[in-house]
Amino acid sequence: MKNFQYYNPVRIVFGEDQIKQLSNLVPTEARVLITYGGGSAQRTGTLDEVKAALADNGSRQVFEFGGIEANPEFTTLLKAADKVNEHDIDFILAVGGGSVIDGSKFVALVSSLTEEDGTTVSREQAWDALTSGCKKIDSAIDFGTVLTIPATGSEMNSGGVINHSERKAKLPFGSALVYPKFSILDPTKTLTLPERQVTNGVADAFVHVMEQYLTYPVNAKVQDGFAESLLKILIEDGPVVRKEPENLDIRKNLMWTATMALNGLIGSGVPQDWTTHMVGHELTSLHSIDHARTLTILLPSVMRELKESKRDKLLQYARNVWNITDTDQSDDAIIDMAIDNTENFFRELGLPVSLEDADLDESAIEPIIKQLEAHKMVKLGEYGTNDLDVSRRILHRAISNKAS
Ligand code: NZQ
Ligand code: ZN
Repeated sequence: MKNFQYYNPVRIVFGEDQIKQLSNLVPTEARVLITYGGGSAQRTGTLDEVKAALADNGSRQVFEFGGIEANPEFTTLLKAADKVNEHDIDFILAVGGGSVIDGSKFVALVSSLTEEDGTTVSREQAWDALTSGCKKIDSAIDFGTVLTIPATGSEMNSGGVINHSERKAKLPFGSALVYPKFSILDPTKTLTLPERQVTNGVADAFVHVMEQYLTYPVNAKVQDGFAESLLKILIEDGPVVRKEPENLDIRKNLMWTATMALNGLIGSGVPQDWTTHMVGHELTSLHSIDHARTLTILLPSVMRELKESKRDKLLQYARNVWNITDTDQSDDAIIDMAIDNTENFFRELGLPVSLEDADLDESAIEPIIKQLEAHKMVKLGEYGTNDLDVSRRILHRAISNKAS
């Protein structure tokens, strides 16, 4: 195991009917901006519930900013930052999924970048602050979240991903300043999700675990054991939630699993490989494919292309996650079975596993490679050796993704 520091200050408030806890969690005198997405929070009544809780206990002033898109848009978020400064907001409350939460993290950071007259900095300065790793930002507005979709883990981490359509760029950022002060995880809130978002969430969490697990062994038993458990829960409960959408026990487990998948715990002290995510972001930015679906298109091809360098971990994955213990089989056959199982799991969830499944063909590949180059995604993977040629080969494999 490598040296590491693990720090995660997010208070998790988990369970049914916990939104009322906002009356204790948000400072009583705060000027609060509630941020939300394209309307689900209003339609489902969650927004009203949140406002009622904020009205309880104290004299908070509450403002709203709705319309944060899935894959949150840079220009929309700057408007939210303007609102923060206009109304002297000192607490942001994100109500939604990864997009609203990531967007709110960005707003919390960018709003602190003001000109002397108190107005938000220019678009160019804000973009630079984001793409240069947020290093020039030394404060952020406090914020908390009410999670409505289990998927990204954003509710318990300090990262985010922002889309800039004009620049055809979807880029990650991270800052310890934007760990949420708290996140409320009420599993009943996930009952209104369309099936597409439920299965997307299962797949996103699955790939988060895989990208912190499927590298090379460093004898990190805690991290590996946790990771394997999370994968097995997703494999077991993912298909069940489609058949039993009202099953609250399943919803509870999926919600906590997705949070645990990307809260820093299983990634501490181990090598990581975020190739699938980084190539996937380009697929979303160029072709508007849902985040999770880019991952299911790419992961089987990443596993096949990098089979040699990931051999030991692939065998461990086959044995401990898929229970493939048949000693008559060669190592290669065992690994192929585990990769096929992974692909079939995604299929069982109704998710795409190839570019063809997303109506794309070979002509999609070079524009993606150009974008990866423009965004300096040229040394990916646990060894930093996944260059553009490797990404190109992965994408070629993903065209129809036939097992090799
Ligand atoms: O916009 P509204 O109307 O709210 O609808 C949303 C949206 O259309 C809907 N929804 C959310 N909760 C609902 C609901 N519909 C009915 N009932 C509910 N309870 O679901 C749709 C998707 O929401 P979104 O927030 O986009 O989903 P998700 O949580 O999957 O977030 C995806 C974003 O997170 C980023 C992705 O790149 C993408 O931009 N990620 C963030 C990460 C992080 N911060 O650590 C890591 C991830 O790898 C990921 O990259
Ligand atoms: Zn993801």
